[in-house]
Amino acid sequence: MRGRVRRPRGRATGSVPPITAILFIGDVVGRAGRRALRELLPGLREELAPDFVVANGENAAGGIGITPKEADELLRAGVDAITLGNHTYRHREIWSYLEQERRIVRPANYLPNQPGRGTTIVERDGVTLGIVNLSGAVHLQAGSPPLVAIDGALKEVARADQILVDMHAEVTSEKVALGWYLDGKVTAVVGTHTHIPTADARVLPGGTAYITDVGMTGARGGVIGMKREQSIAVMRTHMPMRYEPSDEDPWINAVLIRASKPRRADEIRQILRSSPAPSA
Ligand SMILES: [Fe+2]
Ligand SMILES: [Fe+2]
Repeated sequence: MRGRVRRPRGRATGSVPPITAILFIGDVVGRAGRRALRELLPGLREELAPDFVVANGENAAGGIGITPKEADELLRAGVDAITLGNHTYRHREIWSYLEQERRIVRPANYLPNQPGRGTTIVERDGVTLGIVNLSGAVHLQAGSPPLVAIDGALKEVARADQILVDMHAEVTSEKVALGWYLDGKVTAVVGTHTHIPTADARVLPGGTAYITDVGMTGARGGVIGMKREQSIAVMRTHMPMRYEPSDEDPWINAVLIRASKPRRADEIRQILRSSPAPSA
């Protein structure tokens, strides 16, 4: 199975090498993020012809966590697999869903007692994509160091043609180090969690596509997706306040990774698009 990649859809094969295209969508935040994904994905499918679409859904429910309702909505919208992060267990309803639904993963370096799996494999037209979710250990509660846990996680997806790793981490150094550690072993290492896209997307010398943070799919008019008035008030008063997701100026932040060889990327490209305003 390893080594099989399919020909691009609707294109003459000729001398064009077979390509697998993976669209990875950064943290989907609240209703505005889900709507942006729903509205922009059909056009991105036309334009970019991704074979696989993977989205980080850790902020899909009201900006914090995810429930089966939002997970089903993302899957119905055409997402092949969902990755998560530090807000995974915020809503109790998702706990059993994580055990039952194979298309959603939480960080592989969480404790064994925590519900869900850290890796999965999805398949399309005979090509398989292994997905690994990891959590950074700095400023986040991870069960074990991601650069150690990744070895075991990679064994679980060893049969996949392509491998995508979502490194959900706060600090840039952990993400950069993981990228270097995995260079030449996986197709892509994509960072999530900070909600701000970084300008360092590139293919490392060994062939692994890398970006420190993909950014978020949500309201740019807020503070990392939440209403800016509330964030400003909390920072000015040091008093707790309820945070709600913003609806203002939604964008999709994503990357497209193209690979013509097993577990080696040819290209990583940032896809940053604003979503049209809702009609009413
Ligand atoms: Fe997030
Ligand atoms: Fe996060």
